[in-house]
Amino acid sequence: MSKNSELQERRVHAVPRGVSNSLAVYTERASNAELWDVEGRRYVDFASGISVLNTGHVHPKVKDAIARQLEKFTHSAFQVTPYESYIALAEALNGLAPGATPKKTIFLTTGAEAVENAIKIARFHTKRSGVIAFSGGFHGRTLACISLTGKVQPYKAGFGPMLPEIYHLPFPMPYHGVTVEHSLAALEHLFKADIDPARVAAIIIEPVLGEGGFYAAPTELLRKLRSVCDTHGIVLIADEIQSGFGRTGRMFAIEHSGVEPDLITIAKSVAGGVPLSAVTGKAEIMDAPPPGGLGGTYAGSPLACAAGLAVLEVMREEQLLKRAQEIGRFMSTRLKGLQVRFPCLGEVRALGAMVAVELVKNGRADSPDPELTKAVVQAAGQQGLILLSCGVYANVIRFLAALTIPDAVLKEGFTLFEQALGEVAGGTLPVQAAG
Ligand SMILES: Cc1ncc(COP(=O)(O)O)c(C=O)c1O
Repeated sequence: MSKNSELQERRVHAVPRGVSNSLAVYTERASNAELWDVEGRRYVDFASGISVLNTGHVHPKVKDAIARQLEKFTHSAFQVTPYESYIALAEALNGLAPGATPKKTIFLTTGAEAVENAIKIARFHTKRSGVIAFSGGFHGRTLACISLTGKVQPYKAGFGPMLPEIYHLPFPMPYHGVTVEHSLAALEHLFKADIDPARVAAIIIEPVLGEGGFYAAPTELLRKLRSVCDTHGIVLIADEIQSGFGRTGRMFAIEHSGVEPDLITIAKSVAGGVPLSAVTGKAEIMDAPPPGGLGGTYAGSPLACAAGLAVLEVMREEQLLKRAQEIGRFMSTRLKGLQVRFPCLGEVRALGAMVAVELVKNGRADSPDPELTKAVVQAAGQQGLILLSCGVYANVIRFLAALTIPDAVLKEGFTLFEQALGEVAGGTLPVQAAG
């Protein structure tokens, strides 16, 4: 028995099935956009640990920063005896958050915790309880977060009751016939039929849906939400946990719209693989809860803050925002090029390096193909490529290569994707280059 299958066997007995794995590939080590399994096999990594590694696996600068911090101390609890790196990283994020309004930042540990805290801050600030979220949105797996998440299976079913006073609007997905007009009409209807806007604490939106399938929120929608929030004193929360930290070619995806949110939730790529999350927002709102109302034992751990400061340095030095645009252009051009050979490739979406393609039957948007999508992910794994799916119909392949990926590895990864697709979807033969 190989080591991967041995470990898989042990995993089945020791770990509950509720936490799933895309591939039975057990990681031994990783570097930038490559990963080796316990059997010594190399993979190109287009998953980046679910969008955590925009600066790649074990970036030398991030590794050195963590190692230096390890020599000093690993934990003192910011709430007990604080440390400078927390403040320095907060100052940096306050400066990077869009808009001129002064900002403050609190650090936490997971994305879900950031979302929970953003809701708590918005509720305390407004003294209201209602929250509006979007169908297709994903905000994490804690009870408050699954209440906000707009997908029943597998996130909500059986885990109820959900938090009260949470309402969902349709997220625009033009490919599936949902437009901005639908979303705005639903908002108007919500205020007429279900909740007085004066009872709404927050509207939370992913500027680009992550788990939901990489649909970018149209600028028109974000601007309208901004104005509705301004009119009714509602806190606008941008959940940038997947779309932030350079993935879309801007530090935060909402910058593409010119809208200044009140609060931003941040996690994943902020600390290059060390668990860290944050809420950055307008100082006046962030300061609403009293001392002791926010925090957490490990929140903003010194190792994570050291890593976070190094990540920002790497992003600046290696011009990763520009690189995200290049990667996005490469991937979307190549994917569109494959559509001729593979009618199963539906809409290609890309905002910077947040790139995805829908897999459909007979080229039809209304016939999503989740089985094929699953097969492509597995075939890619066999070929040596780590891929992730997503989407409200589980029929979207998302590409999340590290922004530090060398061109040769990016091209290699795409070729492996093409081979995996050819294996499971057939398609017509590639045109051979002359000579
Ligand atoms: C947009 C968004 N919000 C929140 C979360 C939850 O983050 P975590 O899994 O770190 O709790 C995720 C995770 O995928 C996410 O994509």
